[in-house]
Amino acid sequence: MKTIYITRRETFNAAHKLWREEWSEEKNWEVFGKCSNKNWHGHNFSIYVTVKGIPSEETGFVINLKELSLILKKEVVEPLDHKNLNLDVPFLQGILASTENIAIQIWDRIKDPISEAGGELVKIKLVETENNYVEYYGGKEPF
Ligand code: NI
Repeated sequence: MKTIYITRRETFNAAHKLWREEWSEEKNWEVFGKCSNKNWHGHNFSIYVTVKGIPSEETGFVINLKELSLILKKEVVEPLDHKNLNLDVPFLQGILASTENIAIQIWDRIKDPISEAGGELVKIKLVETENNYVEYYGGKEPF
C-alpha cells in the first residue's frame, strides 16, 4: 500500500489582538507586546492542510483537491476571511486568538468533512507571518 501525503494551501486575511480581559493593560503589554494593540492588527494568513491516503486506482487521487478546497473554503476561508477573529467568528468566541488556538479550532472543523470526502487529515500548518507559523497534528506527535 503506497501511502502518500497531499497538501492544499488556502489564504485569508484577518484582524485580531492577543488580550486577556482580566489582566491590566500593562500586563497585556508585558506578555503580548504589540500583539495586544487595543485597536487590532491584521495578518495575511496561509493555511496548509495535509491529508494522507492511498491513491485511488480509478482517479490516482488521495482526495479530490477540488473537494478539499471546497471544504476549506466553507469551513475556514468564508468564516475567517476579512473578519475580526476576536469579535466576528462564532467558533472562536471566548478563545484567545493566538495562531495556536486558531489552528486547533480549524482542525476540529475540517477533520470530519475531510474524512467524509475519503481523506485522513494529518497536519495543519498555519502561517501568520513569514517568520511565524504553527503546525498541528490533531494533538498527536508528528509522524
Ligand atoms: Ni497577530
